[in-house]
Amino acid sequence: VPAKRIRNFSIIAHIDHGKSTLADRLLEFTRTVPDRELQQQFLDNMDIERERGITIKLQTARMNYNYNGEDYVLNLIDTPGHVDFSYEVSRSLIACESALLVVDASQGIEAQTLANVYLALDADLTIIPVLNKIDLPGADPEKVKREIEEVIGLDTTDSVLCSAKAGIGIEDILKTLIEKTPPPLAREEEPLRCLIFDSYYDPYRGVVTYFRIKSGRIQKGDKIRFMNTGKSFLAEEIGVLAPTQQPTDTLEAGEVGYLIAGIKTVEDARVGDTITHEAENRRAPDALPGYAEAKPMVWSGLFPTDAADYDTLRDALSKLKLNDAALQFEPENSAAMGFGFRCGFLGLAAHGRRAGRGPSLSACTRLEREFDLDLICTAPSVVYQVKPMKGEAYFLSNPSELPEPTKREWIAEPYARLEMITPDEYVGPLMELAQNRRGVYKDMKYLVEGRTTIVYEMPLAEMVTDFFDHLKSRSKGYASMEYSLIEYRQNDLVRLDVAVNGEPVDALSFILHRDNAHGIGKELCLKLKEIIPRQMFKVCWLSAMVETSRGRRNCSRNRLRARSA
Ligand code: GTP
Repeated sequence: VPAKRIRNFSIIAHIDHGKSTLADRLLEFTRTVPDRELQQQFLDNMDIERERGITIKLQTARMNYNYNGEDYVLNLIDTPGHVDFSYEVSRSLIACESALLVVDASQGIEAQTLANVYLALDADLTIIPVLNKIDLPGADPEKVKREIEEVIGLDTTDSVLCSAKAGIGIEDILKTLIEKTPPPLAREEEPLRCLIFDSYYDPYRGVVTYFRIKSGRIQKGDKIRFMNTGKSFLAEEIGVLAPTQQPTDTLEAGEVGYLIAGIKTVEDARVGDTITHEAENRRAPDALPGYAEAKPMVWSGLFPTDAADYDTLRDALSKLKLNDAALQFEPENSAAMGFGFRCGFLGLAAHGRRAGRGPSLSACTRLEREFDLDLICTAPSVVYQVKPMKGEAYFLSNPSELPEPTKREWIAEPYARLEMITPDEYVGPLMELAQNRRGVYKDMKYLVEGRTTIVYEMPLAEMVTDFFDHLKSRSKGYASMEYSLIEYRQNDLVRLDVAVNGEPVDALSFILHRDNAHGIGKELCLKLKEIIPRQMFKVCWLSAMVETSRGRRNCSRNRLRARSA
C-alpha cells in the first residue's frame, strides 16, 4: 500500500468512556471481523485483564476501507488504559499520526483524558474529538465540546458525535479519520527504523513484537538489530495484524506490523527500542528518540507460606518476567518469613485496584491464582535514595538495608505530580486526603460547570497502597486521578522496625516520615496482634521501633501483649 493511503491512529479515552466498544464497532463496520466474533470484546481478550479491568496487552488491528472509490488502510494502534503506563502510551502514540479523543458526552473530561491528550499533543498528533454515548439521556455533547475547547484548547469544529453502543456516527468517524489524519511520510529509501510499541511473550512462538516502520523497508529473512539493547536477530516472520497475524514478505515505511525473531523474553524487545538492519552499511545512524529503560518503582517482599513452594514461586516469577519487562526479583531471606523474593513492579497497578471493576488482582493474587501458591506479600515500598556518610548516594529498595542513622547523611524519596479532577463538592475532602498524605498544594482550576482540577506534589510512597481507593470513596466514585514522577526530595525519613518477642522481623521494616512513625507503629502492632496466629507464640510481645539519632526508640508506648488462649 502506498503511504498516502495509510492512516495510523489510536484511541485515547478515560476508563469506561467507550474505547473498546468503539474499536469493536470500527472493526465491525470495516468488516475486519465478522459480527459473531465480537461476542466477546475483541480488543479485550485476556481473561486476567478482564478481571483486573486493566488493558495491559496492547492490541492493534489493520482495517481496509474504501472511501470515495479509493482503498485505504487504517491501522488502529491500541494504547494501555492505566495510569501506570504513560511511557508505553507515549510510545504507542508516537507510532501514529492522529488520535481519536473519545469523551463520554454524559461525563466530560477526566484526569486520564487530559494526561493522554497532553501525550498526544507532545507527539504532534492530529486530535479528533469524538463525543460518545450520545444515546444516553444525560448526554450533553455541546457542553462537553465547550469543556474540550476551554480546558484543552482544541477546536471542536471537526468533532464527531457518536454512540459506539448503538452504532451511530461510525461512518463519520472513518471519514474524518481519512480526511484529517496526515498520511505517514514515505521514507522507503532511508535506512530501516522501526519503533517497537508493544511486545508480548507467546509460549509457542517466542516474543511477538509490534512495530511501526518510520523509515526504510523490512523483509522476511533480514538480519536485524535492536539499537538500544544492541542485540541481533533474524526476522523469521513479519506480517500485518488484520486483525489476526498474517505473514507478508515485505513491509515499508508507514506500515504497522509484527515480527517473530526467536526472541526469548520481552526484555529484549523493549517498547521504545528501534529495529534496524544488522549489516553495518544498512544500519540507521541513530535510534529513534525517547527510549527509556523499564525501572520498577515499587518493591515488596513475597514469601510462600509453605517453604516447599519456594521453587514454584521462583518459576512463576520467571514466567511472569518473560512478559513483563519491568518486573524484577531477587532472593530474600528473612529470619521470620523464611525464603522468598523481593520483587519490583512498574507502578501502582501491582498493588492498587480500580474501583468498581471486580475484585482487586494485585501481582500477589495473580501469582496465587495462576500458579496455585499461597503467599505473604509485605507492604510495598518505593525506591529511596540514600547518601551514606562515606561514598556516593545510591538507590535502595529494601528498607532493611538502610544504613544506621549515624552512618548516613540523608534519605530522599520520589515525588509525583498528582492531578485530580472532581465535582466541586468533593474538593474539600480530596484536599484533606492529599494533605494527610503529605501532599504539597500546587494549583487549582475550575473547569466548566461544577468541576475542578486540583494539583498536588506528593511523595509516591503515600500513593502506593490505598490512595486511589480513598480518592474514589471520598468522591463517591466521581473523582479521577493521574500522576507522573517528578523528582527525589530529601525528607526527615526514618525506618520503622517491627519486633516479635524482641526479635526484629526485617521483612516488615519500612521507611516513613518521622511525624507518622508513632501513630503508624502503634496501629501496626494492634493489627499484627490480631493477625499473628496465637499458637505460634505462647506469649507474643509486639513492638514497633523507630530510629532516633541515638538509636531506636519504642514507639508503641505500652507494649501490646497477646496472650495465647
Ligand atoms: P476500559 O477498557 O476500561 O478502558 O474502558 P473503555 O473505555 O474501553 O470502555 P468500554 O468500551 O468497555 O465501555 C464502557 C461501558 O460503556 C460499557 O458498559 C459499554 O457498554 C458502555 N458504552 C460504550 N459506548 C457506549 C455508548 O455509546 N452508549 C452507551 N449508552 N454506553 C456505551
